[in-house]
Amino acid sequence: MPKRRRFPIVCLLFLAATSAFDVRGAWRAAGDVVAVEPRPDGATFRLSSGARAAIAFIAPDVAHVRVAPKGEFEPDFSYAVETEKRIAISAQVNRFDDRTEINTMGARLVIFHRPLRTVIYDAQGRLVVEDDPARPFSFDPETGAVETSKLRPATETYYGFGEKALPMSRHGQTMVMWNYDTYAYDRNTDPLYKSIPFFIALHQGRAYAIFFDNTHRTYFDMGKTDPARYTFGAAGGEINYYVFTGGKERSPHNILRDYTELTGRMPLPPIWALGFQQSRWSYYPEARVRDLARTFREKRIPCDVIYLDIDYMDGYRVFTWDRGRFPDPAKMIRDLRVQGFRLVVIIDPGVKVDDQYEVYRQGRAGGYFVRAADGSEFHARVWPGTCAFPDFTDPKARAWFGALYKKHTDEGIAGFWNDMNEPATFLPDDLAEPRIMHHPGKTFPLDVPHAGEGVLPDTHRRYHNVYGMQMARATFEGLKRLRPDARPFVLTRAAYAGVQRYSAVWTGDNVSTWDHLALSIPMLANLGVSGIPFAGADVGGFADYPLPTGELYARWLQAAIFTPFLRGHSSGGPTRNQEPWAFGPEFERINRATIELRYRFLPYIYTLFREHEETGAPVMRPLWFEYPNDVRTYLIEDQFLLGRDVLVAPVVREGERRRRVYFPAGDEWIDWWTGARYRGGSEMMVEAPLDRLPFFVRAGAALAVQAPVQHTDEMKNAPLTLVVAAGAGGESRIYQDEGDGYAYRNGRYLNTIVRLSEEQFGLRIAFAHAGEYKDARLPSAIEILGVSDPPREVLADGRKIERVEFDKAAHRLRVELPAAPVTEILITR
Ligand code: NOJ
Repeated sequence: MPKRRRFPIVCLLFLAATSAFDVRGAWRAAGDVVAVEPRPDGATFRLSSGARAAIAFIAPDVAHVRVAPKGEFEPDFSYAVETEKRIAISAQVNRFDDRTEINTMGARLVIFHRPLRTVIYDAQGRLVVEDDPARPFSFDPETGAVETSKLRPATETYYGFGEKALPMSRHGQTMVMWNYDTYAYDRNTDPLYKSIPFFIALHQGRAYAIFFDNTHRTYFDMGKTDPARYTFGAAGGEINYYVFTGGKERSPHNILRDYTELTGRMPLPPIWALGFQQSRWSYYPEARVRDLARTFREKRIPCDVIYLDIDYMDGYRVFTWDRGRFPDPAKMIRDLRVQGFRLVVIIDPGVKVDDQYEVYRQGRAGGYFVRAADGSEFHARVWPGTCAFPDFTDPKARAWFGALYKKHTDEGIAGFWNDMNEPATFLPDDLAEPRIMHHPGKTFPLDVPHAGEGVLPDTHRRYHNVYGMQMARATFEGLKRLRPDARPFVLTRAAYAGVQRYSAVWTGDNVSTWDHLALSIPMLANLGVSGIPFAGADVGGFADYPLPTGELYARWLQAAIFTPFLRGHSSGGPTRNQEPWAFGPEFERINRATIELRYRFLPYIYTLFREHEETGAPVMRPLWFEYPNDVRTYLIEDQFLLGRDVLVAPVVREGERRRRVYFPAGDEWIDWWTGARYRGGSEMMVEAPLDRLPFFVRAGAALAVQAPVQHTDEMKNAPLTLVVAAGAGGESRIYQDEGDGYAYRNGRYLNTIVRLSEEQFGLRIAFAHAGEYKDARLPSAIEILGVSDPPREVLADGRKIERVEFDKAAHRLRVELPAAPVTEILITR
């Protein structure tokens, strides 16, 4: 038996690196099993150290492991897990002298007794993951820290972890989860704004995942200290994690389905939130906002949303207006609506301490603010000066804060942006120490108490990482109460696992550099596989310095139009303009065409959001997510998939006018621009002039695009075109509904299933519809990509179609369809 170490090396490394830990700790092993108590879904174990473990299945392929160091389990309570949805499952439990085995239809869990150590197998009997025999579970009774280690194959790769400025796979990396305001962060800065302690492991085509549901400061060492193992732990709480075995297929799709079953999915956002959004710090006064709106329309650059950053408020007091800058907000908002714009405003958590200010008075009277350890109202400085902060872990405080939005919903504001909710506070002006990025003074003191729903009251140590998510929840739930028929749009900077139920996210204060553009791809793709489908990075870069060049902005915009959340945002300064027209006429032309492309693809993108709501699949996907059997995709980070069918290869290097593209194996890919066909499993050089975003459609796919519109309200009249990538065939789907509200949940939607099949005579395209949405658009044309010769004949339900155009250069065939619904189209070669 391998020798057990008393002080896990990994821990010591972390302890030395992070001030929140006490280095004097005395680590202990959880020890041997001394008693087993079976339960219907698993068993609990008493351990020689006095600790207790509960190991059970919550679904046939999802195991839940808890180890309580002091022998008492915490209340069964989690901000991440949608508990009401958990179903009881029964497992077969077999006890032996040296081990206990728990079997379900989907997995087998073996728990060795001396010491406590788990090994999990899938339904085929293949190993999923096993605890490191040298230190399966350890804890430090003095500091409350907990830790577990697993063995790792040398080539296993890891994804997810929410928002990390790291390469696509996080093997060989260490990471910390502790939400931080990290202005102008850089590659490798860690932690950033969000804590999503969830990862997917991938090895030789088989995936599994672990969700460590611990809201304390947590850390992960994914084989950096020792490539043969990985370790994760927390500064307090329990070892409390879920293992997702990935079902029969051991697939990433199954894992995200199961993970989002547990932690929730994002409900369909309003369609306007998928349009282009323009922000800066800050647009004011009103005349400037009106001018901005007019310029978009005059220049015919599509846009749906304008953002107001902190300067719209009266002295940064949330839920107020600076009436000098914005004399009549409701009127301005009405006028913008007529032009097809919606307004989103920023709301921070800090409430200015000011006896004349109604919001502060209400918060104080209601007892909604966080208190310091001595019981006084906790105060810290942010933009407004000295502020108090709602305790968003208190349901009463959330309800109060959520109701404050009424002022703004009455004015017609469409959506809300929650910033600074890590929570971030300012360091004192007279600070003697260096103002380092991760200065502990940039948030609340750790001993500040929180309500924890009244279920588990505890200090900021436990609740820091959920503060921002609970603020987003207050906003989302408030908006749902205020406008039950409108889908809320909330954008948050800080997050914890499960945030997708409430909010979209953006990656904070990035920088206008080529490296940040490159970084946005692995960052956003990994947010997607962390269960967060609606994520974006500030297009063009945010931080004050340096300024982006026209080329950087144009390339960034190209990469961003196929990411889920598309917003241009930058910090202010009179010399910095970062609108799509800010870089001269040539770039304006390129940027217009780029944004038009986003709008053309909205029907497809919207369908992907619906797919997320149904299955948990991300909108933006790393290549390996769809091609786990192609190991060459595992480390690719300058390409991504939009849904299953669009492969995007943006240029992320200055001066580059062509680039290498890897085409995942098992499919053929058709170039959107040239119709050229690429075999999967190959790497090819493709042309990428400044005005071209290289992207490819999977052969066999059919997807809906529309004529360009200036904003999403115009979509109902925009003709729909079905784009078909000629190929072996399969099934695709187009989802349509009203674009807002909840009628779709009562059947008011239209699902169009398109089946493609290659036949001897040529191509057959069959349509089937489900649902009742009378205003749905039917495709008025079909465009077939990758066609080398004109067809002999095109028949729609047996009738010959005359209006057929063949573009030889682009290898594209366009067929105008009759106005009446068509069920089958035959294209004869
Ligand atoms: C920090 C946010 O990250 C940024 O986007 C915003 O512009 C500033 N706060 C000012 O509100």
